[in-house]
Amino acid sequence: MDFNSETMENNIIKVTVIDREGVAHELEAPTDMNMNMMEVCKSYDLPVEGTCGGMAMCASCHMYVESDTELPEKSEDEEDMLDEAFFVDDEKSRLGCQLHITPELDNLVVKLAPVGE
Ligand code: FES
Repeated sequence: MDFNSETMENNIIKVTVIDREGVAHELEAPTDMNMNMMEVCKSYDLPVEGTCGGMAMCASCHMYVESDTELPEKSEDEEDMLDEAFFVDDEKSRLGCQLHITPELDNLVVKLAPVGE
């Protein structure tokens, strides 16, 4: 593992978000502020609605995990919501609001899922 003492010290991890135009944004996310990927994207003004406020009830934070980062299993609520979402990729789809920012997510790469018009 690439141990970066500076980022570890500040409780900051790096994540990459690829927007719907294919542009990669490298973001810094704090592990000690109880944030999730939906909120991190919003704080950088990326086009993630987060309509339900992170309750796994809207799928507007749907994203595809492109890195081989080990992630926590989906909860039943997340599974149920993804069952109803569009453009779901069984292997990669996650709800951003259910991905809590932890040190394990360092170097995560996600791609925003398309939104229905
Ligand atoms: S913000 Fe609604 S499901 Fe994630």
